[in-house]
Amino acid sequence: MKTIIEPFKIKSVEPIRFTTKEERIKLIKDAGYNPFMLHADDVLIDLLTDSGTSAMSSKQWAGIMDGDESYAGSKSFYRFEETVKKITGLKYIIPTHQGRAAEKILFSVVGGKGKFIPNNTHFDTTRANVEFTGAEAVDLLNEAGKHPEIRADFKGNMDVKKLEEFIIKTGRENIPLCMITVTNNSGGGQPVSMQNIKDVKQVCKKFDIPLFIDACRFAENAYFIKRREPGYSNKSVLEIAQEMFSYADGATMSAKKDALVNIGGFLALNDENIAQQCRNLLIVTEGFPTYGGLAGRDLEAVAQGLEEILDEHYLQYRIRSIEYLGEKLVASGVPIIEPPGGHAIYLDAKRFLPNIPSENFPGQAIVCELYIEGGIRSVEIGSVMFGKYDDNGKLIPPPMELVRLAIPRRVYTQSHIDYVFEIILEVFNKRKALKGYKIVYEAPMLRHFTAQFEPII
Ligand code: F0G
Repeated sequence: MKTIIEPFKIKSVEPIRFTTKEERIKLIKDAGYNPFMLHADDVLIDLLTDSGTSAMSSKQWAGIMDGDESYAGSKSFYRFEETVKKITGLKYIIPTHQGRAAEKILFSVVGGKGKFIPNNTHFDTTRANVEFTGAEAVDLLNEAGKHPEIRADFKGNMDVKKLEEFIIKTGRENIPLCMITVTNNSGGGQPVSMQNIKDVKQVCKKFDIPLFIDACRFAENAYFIKRREPGYSNKSVLEIAQEMFSYADGATMSAKKDALVNIGGFLALNDENIAQQCRNLLIVTEGFPTYGGLAGRDLEAVAQGLEEILDEHYLQYRIRSIEYLGEKLVASGVPIIEPPGGHAIYLDAKRFLPNIPSENFPGQAIVCELYIEGGIRSVEIGSVMFGKYDDNGKLIPPPMELVRLAIPRRVYTQSHIDYVFEIILEVFNKRKALKGYKIVYEAPMLRHFTAQFEPII
């Protein structure tokens, strides 16, 4: 097979700044060994997130100029609405400034104390927005999805049997909606199969519970279905996406992922009554219903991005570029979540650093070392992000200790990725010399953003 190339030419470039290892040792120390505290200008390759970090196309930039900034009834809104409707088939399309704003509005309307929201795995903002209303967020991931070393095609699937048992135990009246996140970001960017979406829908239908899709990475998920699920290889990604959404009664979306923009999102749904309540809240917190929290030009860029994301040459390159890095790491014995997901590589810090216990944050040790060694910024997804304390102040670690290297869309080339591989390998080869960290400051909520660490010497 020939090399799968980047399906674009580069028209505008942004220089990246090189630093020395000595400088980085000081910079990460000054940042309290927390990469969120680094100045982005001191980062060579930034794999902190794939969210809002995409390179926009020349057509999206042209759309920015063409955007209609009318307060009400902007033509850019109608283009945006039409595009979202074409893909999702959903009736009421509500623009928001990003994904969590859609979540906030939706759960303010349907959530509340005594309510439960099942999901394959809630993303942290989704969980936070559910729980902020007093409701409970429940993850019902299938068993394979919990084991980094098990290779399976659709490790993002929801456990349908557990869902049914959960509904019976909890009572359908306490479950305002069921969610499914495609791809499953917190579980490794793993895809969800069409069969699973259908099965989940069937259970929801039986109990008359609406199904919502967290659609941030819907196109990457649709492409996995095309490649891996029998019966879909000859369908277009648009047709597959349309089928996915045909089982949904609503969706939330962060356009900062699969709409290839730097800001944007939406809430889409079929229920007129809930849509009306959401719009009323939107006016209070985001803006008039034909712009949400966005400028007209942003809506134009989202509409264009949603068309470009469905280009199968793009998706082939996108999924292949993650797989390429994953294959190289696996061939060198570096432990990762296998197979690689759609937007990131997740290093398995437990197997990478078996000598560092969860209490000393093995993921954070890798994150710091990747920065010191090569100027690469990644993020810990383990005991720093999700660790809780018991009554005696002892850490309760989450099931997995991971380091996420999220790949921004259309930003880095194959040689950047080769360099990332070389640095990971260098860190892996000296893993026995790595030391753990302790927390010296933490905030009461979402501590990973601002925590300060010190190395254990
Ligand atoms: N749902 C999923 C699955 C996400 O991955 C994100 C964001 C959101 C909702 C919230 O969207 O950021 O636009 O408010 N994920 C980013 C990440 C932040 O780095 O994975 P948002």
